[in-house]
Amino acid sequence: MNTRLRRSLLFMCALAVGMPAATGFGLKTTPLPFFAGQLSAVQSSPSQVAQSGKEMVSYADVASIFSRSCDKCHSGSKPAQGLRTDSYPGIMAGGWNGPVVVPGNPAKSELVRRIRGTSTPRMPFKSPVWLSETEMARIEQWIQTGAPDGKP
Ligand code: HEC
Repeated sequence: MNTRLRRSLLFMCALAVGMPAATGFGLKTTPLPFFAGQLSAVQSSPSQVAQSGKEMVSYADVASIFSRSCDKCHSGSKPAQGLRTDSYPGIMAGGWNGPVVVPGNPAKSELVRRIRGTSTPRMPFKSPVWLSETEMARIEQWIQTGAPDGKP
């Protein structure tokens, strides 16, 4: 089995058990620690992750990712698919098909599936450059920690 395939299998496992998949993917060092990081993420149970005090990520922390890569189409009076990413109420309301963020469950969130490409068309729409692993992991962590607004 080649490394690429193993990585994607591990990623699927991480998604399947509802892990944020953030731990391994945030690390873009050499292939070996990258891989080791993922293994430990897969092996620890969700409660262990919660207890290990993972940093709470709020909408305010990920808004800049949306403003750079998504708001161009997902804002204004006629946002694509009825979805607005430029405000917390907008993103939580979702699009014409309903909510795209399921708090606590990145794997079930259409928004995550779109940026990962497990749902198509992948977002950002028609972009040859997708979000970085770090950005995707951060958005997943935001949803994993309950998708809070973050404004005082
Ligand atoms: C160039 C314009 C454009 C950009 C940039 C863009 N989108 Fe989209 N988005 C669309 C269009 C068009 C659709 C509808 C496509 C379809 O599903 O047929 C869509 C659909 C979606 C959907 C599905 C909504 C639903 O109700 O099913 C999600 C979620 C989404 N986009 C999230 C994002 C995110 C997150 C980003 C930024 C990383 C982004 N989009 C960037 C144009 C864009």
